[in-house]
Amino acid sequence: MASRGFFSVILHAFVFATVVTLGFSQLSPNYYDYSCPNALRTIKSVVEAAVQKENRMGASLLRLHFHDCFVNGCDGSILLDSSPIIDSEKNARQNNQSARGFEVVDEIKQAVDAACGKPVVSCADILAVVARDSVVALGGPTWEVKLGRRDSTTASRAAAEANIPLPTLSLSELITSFRIHGLDEKDLVVLSGGHTIGFAHCATFRGHIYNDSNIDPNFAQYLQSICPQNGGDENLAPLDSTTANFDVAYYSNLVQKKALLHSDQELFNGGSTDALVKQYSYNTQAFFADFRNSMIKLGNIQPLTGHQGEIRVNCRKVNC
Ligand code: HEM
Ligand SMILES: *[C@@H]1O[C@H](CO)[C@@H](O)[C@H](O)[C@H]1NC(C)=O
Ligand SMILES: *[C@@H]1O[C@H](CO)[C@@H](O)[C@H](O)[C@H]1NC(C)=O
Repeated sequence: MASRGFFSVILHAFVFATVVTLGFSQLSPNYYDYSCPNALRTIKSVVEAAVQKENRMGASLLRLHFHDCFVNGCDGSILLDSSPIIDSEKNARQNNQSARGFEVVDEIKQAVDAACGKPVVSCADILAVVARDSVVALGGPTWEVKLGRRDSTTASRAAAEANIPLPTLSLSELITSFRIHGLDEKDLVVLSGGHTIGFAHCATFRGHIYNDSNIDPNFAQYLQSICPQNGGDENLAPLDSTTANFDVAYYSNLVQKKALLHSDQELFNGGSTDALVKQYSYNTQAFFADFRNSMIKLGNIQPLTGHQGEIRVNCRKVNC
């Protein structure tokens, strides 16, 4: 009897420890079902309205989740403004003058907190849901977003500059950048398909259209009319030929040597990723299925969970 009781205690302790560990280390799609049952529909309606008002906003919001997750995990760090204690990631060169959509995130945060009656939904989770809803609003695939990420109390411009890939990278550098974040070559090719929506500034593609030889000459000429050798850094060009639609045109553009960014054309330049690019260029179903899987992997990068971090009241500031 005594030994049975002893083993029972051990067993219960073990089961309890396992549940606690899993409960706090894993994200769950049902995380807010009790604390804020209207969270997801509230986020969706604000995203839909924002995309309706300005198509490109969907692209800008998807990009924010990527830039959040690549810097110390998906923890809302990208949203923090500069302050005496915060070295804002918004000032990193990959974000400065190009990351946008922050007012829409503020609007969503206010709407969600009003719907819940208190701040229970993290800014990091808002970005993950918003990325999915933006893709859906532009005609892309849907997926189940796991929730329960908590918000960072720090940010790092230096970490953002070191971790967010630059458009000047080579294929092998892109592969390394993704591998460091637990993403493989296939994830790189499929997530780069995020460039099926949105725009880039002249400063980010000037080198490709003037100095690279793996570009369709007519396409280069057309882009040179938008983006001069000197000046015009802020001028915009679409990342693919159907920039308002989430489709496979990005990949068929790469096959035709009509990539806007140097890094995009690297994915189809005689290397190991050519075959996959070609496959996606005529297989929407394959692209959508793989995009769904890779977005879930992206969203699971190193989240803060349990008692780590906090639930911010204002996505731009840490709680005091
Ligand atoms: C593979 C490495 C990547 C590089 C080097 C890269 C680089 C860039 C650059 C330079 C821009 C233009 C920014 C500007 O001038 O405003 C851009 C835009 C964008 N990126 Fe990426 N990106 C990468 C991967 C991704 C991924 C994985 C996603 C999402 C899944 C993504 C989503 C976007 C979107 C949607 C835009 C358009 C944003 C807008 O219109 O506001 N990118 N990217
Ligand atoms: C951001 O870009 C603006 C305009 O190009 C520039 O004036 C500013 O110095 C940049 N900020 C940082 C932190 O590099
Ligand atoms: C193009 O290449 C030339 C010669 O290497 C270089 O001086 C120039 O800065 C490059 N231009 C861009 C936009 O990268």
